[in-house]
Amino acid sequence: MVALPYPVHVAAGALDLLPDAVRGAGASRRAAVVTDSEVGPRYGAQVMSLLGLGRDTLFTIPAGEEHKTRETWARLTDELLARGFGRDTTIVALGGGVVGDLAGFVAATFMRGVPVVQVPTTLLAMVDASVGGKTGVDTGAGKNLVGAFHQPSAVVIDPRVLRTLPEAHMRAGFAEIVKHGVIADAAYFEESRRVVRALSLAEAADVETLTTLIRRSVEIKAGIVARDEREAGLRKVLNFGHTIAHAVEAATQFRTLHGQAVAIGMVAEARIAERLGIGAHGTASAIEAVCVAAGLSTHPPDVAVDALLGYTRADKKARRGRVEYALPARIGAMAGGEDGWSIAVDDDTVRAVLAS
Ligand SMILES: NC(=O)c1ccc[n+]([C@@H]2O[C@H](COP(=O)([O-])OP(=O)(O)OC[C@H]3O[C@@H](n4cnc5c(N)ncnc54)[C@H](O)[C@@H]3O)[C@@H](O)[C@H]2O)c1
Ligand SMILES: [Zn+2]
Repeated sequence: MVALPYPVHVAAGALDLLPDAVRGAGASRRAAVVTDSEVGPRYGAQVMSLLGLGRDTLFTIPAGEEHKTRETWARLTDELLARGFGRDTTIVALGGGVVGDLAGFVAATFMRGVPVVQVPTTLLAMVDASVGGKTGVDTGAGKNLVGAFHQPSAVVIDPRVLRTLPEAHMRAGFAEIVKHGVIADAAYFEESRRVVRALSLAEAADVETLTTLIRRSVEIKAGIVARDEREAGLRKVLNFGHTIAHAVEAATQFRTLHGQAVAIGMVAEARIAERLGIGAHGTASAIEAVCVAAGLSTHPPDVAVDALLGYTRADKKARRGRVEYALPARIGAMAGGEDGWSIAVDDDTVRAVLAS
């Protein structure tokens, strides 16, 4: 459905396509399913039975970002070896972005690389983490600092599993949907605005609507990634909102959910764009309105502005002293072009926006 070298299935009931997707990675391969302690009890049995696998091929890690580490990677690869898995393994990553990144990194490195099929179970992982091939783990020095690009063989997205996702995570994932509208598609932004109320309760969310939204988000992300797999240029637009978001996450010791931090970051960065005369007037307030309607806070946390600024400089995107931002020109289009998509912004501008 999208311009990617691997299939992405998005449909209510798509889990039924998983056996074919796994066979597509290599018919004679052995599947190992990696999940976490929240997702495993809910969907593990269904997936194992669909794949016709026994429990000795299910690997469960404790849920939570704090387990996206080299230690968990080591434990998983040791266990794979202990259970006799070899070069013919296909990894199935069943879970949110934590499982996707970690199991993807296991797949990238185990036996110098085996196929991975991503089965994202959070809205964030469906619209963002599962597509694009970034895998990795966190270290004491920061998030995602050790990893690899490793494209999945297939992505299987069944929005029905969102029924059990806690509401805060539903809202957090929605922030990335808003981001996709801002960076690439004004009509999609309007659509997200229209359906935002349906998301106020994950249980009430209509699966058809979610399916349509997720499809378009995947299409937007895939379209960008396909043109710039290794973040040489265009892919930087996906970082909209993220320079400030990463600072907010770090300054709050990662107690702020990523998507929640992205909502704060998008509003602040759109304000920066407006202040610099790059962004059309009203861009920030439009983003703010849809985030608030989705139940996301858009105010920076109660942290000293200079502390936040310090974290923006520590972010990977800092170059030659000035921090680079991907900034919107208006809803649906980012500022920049062939010469680059990131703009160096001086601290005073950022300070003024964060302090306002
Ligand atoms: N690779 C990428 O391109 C990329 C992009 C964005 C984010 N990420 C990474 O993704 C991670 C965040 O992902 P996340 O927000 O999905 O968090 P997560 O994987 O921690 O999932 C959130 C929580 O929801 C639980 N959960 C997952 N699916 C569920 C379901 N269907 N029902 C009930 N509970 C469920 C999980 O066990 C967890 O407790 C971060 O580590 C981030 O760095 C990666
Ligand atoms: Zn993000």
